[in-house]
Amino acid sequence: MTDTPRDTVSSGGETHQSAGGERPQLTTQQGVPVADDQNSLRQGSRGPTLMEDFHFREKIFHFDHERIPERVVHARGYAAHGYFETYDSLSDLTSADIFQRKGEKTPAFVRFSTVAGNKGSGDLARDVRGFAVKLYTQEGNWDIVGNNIPVFFIQDAIKFPDLIHSAKAEPDRDFPQAQTAHDNFWDFISLTPEAVNMVMWTMSDRAIPRSFRFMEGFGVHTFRLINAKGKSSFIKIHWKPKQGLQSVTWPEAVAINGADPDFHRRDLWNAINSGDFPEWEMGLQVFDEDFADSFDFDVLDPTKIIPEELVPVQIVGRLVLDRMPDNFFAETEQVAFQTGNIVPGVDFSNDPLLQGRNFSYLDTQLKRLGGPNFNHIPINAPKCPFHHFQQDGHMAMHNPKGRANYEPNSWPGAEGGPREDPETGFKSYPAEETGPKQRVRSETFADHYSQARQFFVSQTKVEQDHIVDALVFELSKVERPDIRTRMLGHLIHVHDDLANGVADGLGMDLPDAPTPAREPITDLPASDALSILKNG
Ligand code: HEM
Repeated sequence: MTDTPRDTVSSGGETHQSAGGERPQLTTQQGVPVADDQNSLRQGSRGPTLMEDFHFREKIFHFDHERIPERVVHARGYAAHGYFETYDSLSDLTSADIFQRKGEKTPAFVRFSTVAGNKGSGDLARDVRGFAVKLYTQEGNWDIVGNNIPVFFIQDAIKFPDLIHSAKAEPDRDFPQAQTAHDNFWDFISLTPEAVNMVMWTMSDRAIPRSFRFMEGFGVHTFRLINAKGKSSFIKIHWKPKQGLQSVTWPEAVAINGADPDFHRRDLWNAINSGDFPEWEMGLQVFDEDFADSFDFDVLDPTKIIPEELVPVQIVGRLVLDRMPDNFFAETEQVAFQTGNIVPGVDFSNDPLLQGRNFSYLDTQLKRLGGPNFNHIPINAPKCPFHHFQQDGHMAMHNPKGRANYEPNSWPGAEGGPREDPETGFKSYPAEETGPKQRVRSETFADHYSQARQFFVSQTKVEQDHIVDALVFELSKVERPDIRTRMLGHLIHVHDDLANGVADGLGMDLPDAPTPAREPITDLPASDALSILKNG
């Protein structure tokens, strides 16, 4: 027997690895020292395994339960730790603690992801990338759960399950993994004119980034900042990569995915571990109700941007990623971002996609992370003091201390537990809301093509060609000609060069009439509008 920890020795037919040197002794979960981790307990040397082998049973039991459900979207992701540094006080705009002091550093955890592929899918898919930031501020966790594209496919969260069903593998055959390149996805998109602007972005080079380090990030929705006097300003949030914005071409993406499907995670791992820390600057577009009222589009419509020429982006701080997680599962897999995690000085807008998201994340995480106590997992717990009366449930780690676990209570001092504070606590912005309860979409959400056209026109010729090529490639995989025709009908509304280029590439004629989606869907009962789209 030797002391050298790595040595495995055999004596008398038994195999052992001995503790020693730097290495601690192996124990069970109960702390019982283990003598033999190579052989289960059996009767004689060739007899049956014995049920009383508690070490074997504990080890296999735990292994059998190692997998948790992958995220229903954004299943494949990679994350890093870092910090956010505030450049200057923004106290005129917001009372959010994170923005009060110049130079303040706030710990951050950021997870990048693809959307449609499953956990084992390739990094270079043509897809939107998630850009989720958890800021552990001194007044609670603020999660900015964004993407690398500033707009989204749909205007109302009630369409999210349909969008994602259409984008993920088709249910009878369970392929393809790719978001695009299949009939279901393009069928849904061709019946959803509000998606056309986002489709321009996802068919552009933005959807095949060189690596996570070379992507922009966007909060997408309009949010509010509220200052200490209660004044509200609207904002859009941007993350601008100091590394620059870079993409690969489609042939490069295909080659990289084949050769190294972990290319994006390897890139982040290598960069951070070699001290080349990626940085993004946080930018805010700040505007008020007057601008919102005068803007051609609705600031609550998540399929639209606010052009930077109209409202310039003010740089307010920087995000630096400087440390990889110690353990992928514990941190990257178990992190729970949630749009509802906001802090005093920040508030939601009425964007109907955001309002729906605020419900969805908690709900899905309850299942994915096995119960209501996933905020007790260190990666999700705030780093500021927190006290509340929520208790029990599976895996409870932080039950309230003291006698009282209810409020109001009249127990004095520490026994009484925490108290609310109307001065410093979170207050929702008292926006005035009126109107009948109804299922409608505002007229102001109805122009689906102008910004798609602006995006196409803003691209260089090479970039425009890439969009045309991407659409030709994707639509050529669509088996049903009527779906392709309906998509061409939308492209006519966007730009002639685009529509003609795609029709040529597909060897098809443009339809005589554009897809009749110009009528605002709001002017028609939704069922009529859909039937026009389906039947022409
Ligand atoms: C996950 C962004 C719309 C439901 C995510 C993640 C990101 C993200 C970045 C990954 C979080 C992580 O890294 O763990 C967005 C953006 C949206 C959007 C930018 C639109 C602007 C929606 C909508 C819904 C939704 C409308 C539902 C109504 C979900 C769910 C997850 C998720 C269920 C999985 C969360 C988990 O299991 O932890 N989203 N999303 N998302 N999103 Fe969204």
